[in-house]
Amino acid sequence: MKRVVSGIRPTGKLHLGNYFGAVQSFLNMQSEYDCYFFIADIHSLTTHPTPEDLHANVRTVLAEYLAMGLDPAKCALFIQSDIPAIYELYTYLNMNAYVGELQRSTSFKEKIRSQPDNVNAGLLTYPVLMAVDILVHHADYVPVGKDQQQHLEMTRQFGNRFNNLYKTEYFKEPEAFSSTGKLVKVPGLTAQGKMSKSSGDADTIFIDEDDKVIHKKIMRAVTDSGPEKPGEKKSEGVQNLFDLMALVSSEDVIAHFDKAHSEATIRYGDLKKQLSEDILTFIRPIRERIREISADNAYIAQAAKIGAEKANASAEKTLKEVREIIGFKKFY
Ligand code: ADP
Ligand code: TRP
Repeated sequence: MKRVVSGIRPTGKLHLGNYFGAVQSFLNMQSEYDCYFFIADIHSLTTHPTPEDLHANVRTVLAEYLAMGLDPAKCALFIQSDIPAIYELYTYLNMNAYVGELQRSTSFKEKIRSQPDNVNAGLLTYPVLMAVDILVHHADYVPVGKDQQQHLEMTRQFGNRFNNLYKTEYFKEPEAFSSTGKLVKVPGLTAQGKMSKSSGDADTIFIDEDDKVIHKKIMRAVTDSGPEKPGEKKSEGVQNLFDLMALVSSEDVIAHFDKAHSEATIRYGDLKKQLSEDILTFIRPIRERIREISADNAYIAQAAKIGAEKANASAEKTLKEVREIIGFKKFY
């Protein structure tokens, strides 16, 4: 069975963009592939979270993943720092990652610009750590967005370089992957681009938010003054609301509002009310589950434990083989 590996950094609550852009394809994949999904808490140390925040964020993301339907019986769902082999392989791969190529990575250059006061060595070697996450489980596929393509290219390069150095074909080349064949972009509510936790509260619908808050955000979403004559093109804000509808509403509902827009009879208030209702219908059961699971320490502990066991079994096997390839042999 093909192996799939993907990680998300625990930097906040999950939102609709995370759900439709990433988690939904994880859900589709978990029954079909041998999946390793993890919370990249070691990666998140580059931003120096407090111990309390680090722990709380990991717990939140784990509970949210479980609530959304990732099933510990179907996939290995684990926390990166629970896998000691990661640190070890990171040390080995750092020996054949060149400083020059790491400095040229787009994400590193972006960090130098955005946080000049915290350009730590962990940021420089971030792509090595990501390569380790992927190579340690011999992934065939890595479901990630476009922004991670360069990291994946570097992963292939580090794997191949190891193979060449030790004259082996040990690591295979992982490929980027989208379960639907196309990448989903979930727009924000303020017509300024994609929904993201960093794009502002008014822009973003978090899964674990109350009805009232969500309703208010949608009612305030950016639109325009309405089509003046039939057949007018939708403005960006209005198109965004239709794009969100495409994710949560029925075809009849979408067709109804599409027709009303093309006939210039649409009332955006009605469109927003309907969208708000459909988003809430989608979110409510997940939100209920998040709250149930968050209150259930034993379930969270059990899920993390099963995930760690599965991931450790795979990672330890790799490390045993890697040590031998490198030439570490016991004298005792
Ligand atoms: P954020 O943009 O909120 O910081 P992350 O960068 O942590 O989110 O993304 C986690 C995952 O969710 C990634 O796989 C990313 O591609 C996906 N994702 C985030 N926002 C969106 C969006 N608006 N549309 C589609 N996918 C998204
Ligand atoms: N770098 C990824 C991000 O910022 C998160 C990540 C870490 C990851 N390790 C990974 C994704 C391994 C896929 C596979 O979104």
